[in-house]
Amino acid sequence: MLLHLDASARRPSFSRRLSAAFAAHWRAAHPEARYVYRDLAADPVPHIGQAWTELCDHILEHGITDIARYGEAARTPAQRAAWAIVEPLLEEVVAAEVILIGTPMYNYSIPSALKAWLDQITFPKMSLAGRSIVVTSARGGAYGPGTPREPYDHQERYLRDFFAGHFRIEDVTFIHVELVNALIDPALAHRREQHEESLAAALQEVAR
Ligand SMILES: Cc1cc2nc3c(=O)[nH]c(=O)nc-3n(C[C@H](O)[C@H](O)[C@H](O)COP(=O)(O)O)c2cc1C
Repeated sequence: MLLHLDASARRPSFSRRLSAAFAAHWRAAHPEARYVYRDLAADPVPHIGQAWTELCDHILEHGITDIARYGEAARTPAQRAAWAIVEPLLEEVVAAEVILIGTPMYNYSIPSALKAWLDQITFPKMSLAGRSIVVTSARGGAYGPGTPREPYDHQERYLRDFFAGHFRIEDVTFIHVELVNALIDPALAHRREQHEESLAAALQEVAR
């Protein structure tokens, strides 16, 4: 199964364009496989609330590591309401072989819409080992190796560390289109060609 998420606040979006291209290639190669799409910007997942934290604490306190047993943590009406939000989201993540995330860089990091989804589906000591993650990303600037802005990239850094450190997922691929702001910012107009090259390389990588 492919779980496909998008997080950009806008429709004419580079991260959406890349994730859609990846999904089209993947689905053509796996015509029988299940495909689930979630637009986290248009149809946002709510922020976690107190009842969610109570589910989380119960799971930690009772050493529950089997995801199929998490529902036991929902004991009060508020906790059951919180679980009703989590359960379908978790079912998709657990069923997925590949999780595809189309996301912009916002303020050196990820959009809050994506963070809200991550907060909902993440529980203590939860392993998702064996799955693959593909992140198609767009940035206004350039953050590649050796650039002055490289240390400010808390988008790839955060997601890579979190997926490996918490979920034990090592197979994580990032495909970035950079310098999108060169299309808008007159001060970056001289870097439009570099943006075009970055986009062409990203589309090639998605197809590969
Ligand atoms: C709220 C917001 C914050 C942004 N922050 C950054 C940033 O920190 N660094 C950067 O290079 N670009 C930043 N940008 C530019 C976006 O990364 C860029 O427009 C990108 O193409 C957005 O992805 P999309 O095309 O998929 O919508 C920001 C854009 C928005 C709307």
